[in-house]
Amino acid sequence: MKRIVTGIKPTGDIHIGNYAGAIKPALNFMKDNQLEPFYFIANMHALNSVKDTDLLKKQTLEVAATWIALGLDPQKATFFRQSDIPELFELNWILANLTSKGLMNRAHAYKAMVDQNNRADIDMDTGVNMGLFNYPILMSADILMFNADVVPVGKDQVQHIEIARDLAEQFNHTFGETFKLPNYYIEKEVAVLPGLDGRKMSKSYQNTIPLFCKPKRLQKLIKQIKTDSSLPSERKDPTSSPLFTMYQAFATADETLEMKRRFELGIGWGEVKESLYTVMNRELEKPRVKYEELIAQPAEIEKLLAVGAEKARSYSAKKLKEIKEKVGLL
Ligand code: TYM
Repeated sequence: MKRIVTGIKPTGDIHIGNYAGAIKPALNFMKDNQLEPFYFIANMHALNSVKDTDLLKKQTLEVAATWIALGLDPQKATFFRQSDIPELFELNWILANLTSKGLMNRAHAYKAMVDQNNRADIDMDTGVNMGLFNYPILMSADILMFNADVVPVGKDQVQHIEIARDLAEQFNHTFGETFKLPNYYIEKEVAVLPGLDGRKMSKSYQNTIPLFCKPKRLQKLIKQIKTDSSLPSERKDPTSSPLFTMYQAFATADETLEMKRRFELGIGWGEVKESLYTVMNRELEKPRVKYEELIAQPAEIEKLLAVGAEKARSYSAKKLKEIKEKVGLL
């Protein structure tokens, strides 16, 4: 059986980029009974930016409720909270000792933060902590611990999966065959879902559409999506339009083809925005209601996570024992 592993950080509102790039593909994988999904809330990864006890708890609950509201079946998937799996942090340390500092210096998220700190116009240390520097190693532990074959992610995470492969190879070479080499899966059309301003949708750019915002707000945000100033009658290029990219993340293949044709005929932006709202709301309407119900029952979610943690640990405890034996720690 092939293993699918992915995680979402509880660092703020889940947005449609997270959904289209990672959650939706992950849930599609769940339909295949030949696959074994391991989906989790990466709360330890969130620590490098969230330093507020109640907020971290609240956001963790929100990510859990999001997964379930969208259709994750906890009977089928092993669904857990990262911090409930202590074996991950032992593996993190073992892998850290096989990781060259140079490799981490080249990691995108760390480099971006260093660049930001070095900008003369920002008089503030935005906080490069060791959690951020070590981020790819912990992420490798998440992936390798569960012998992932495939990791569904957005394009921004590809480098991290490549690092996990490097570390797996390094470990296997040093201590003998232990880890599978994971592959990433990216949904081509939405690998980088754009945000309201046309840049990648990202919490740090404040250009997101929260997945479960109320319909009125959704409509309002869609109206704010940047468009070029071409006239309604002019031919439009769908490949360069954030609206089109968002549309195809929610529309059927036929609807997408039809929209492409309408772009070429010169559809008005207002009409595209209306159609985008229709397909997005169609898909999110029911999960939104379910999400509101779930968020009001934290104890139920806790129960699910406790079962998930037990299931995950039945794998991770065995795997860690194998790893520690190979390294000479037992
Ligand atoms: P996070 O929570 O930042 O992002 C969750 C997922 O959403 C994807 N994503 C996007 N995809 C398309 N377009 C966008 N605009 C967009 N923005 C975000 C991200 O690529 C990601 O797949 N490091 C992970 C969390 C993690 C993880 C793991 C993932 C921790 N351990 C192990 C896989 C396997 C992250 O970025 O989370």
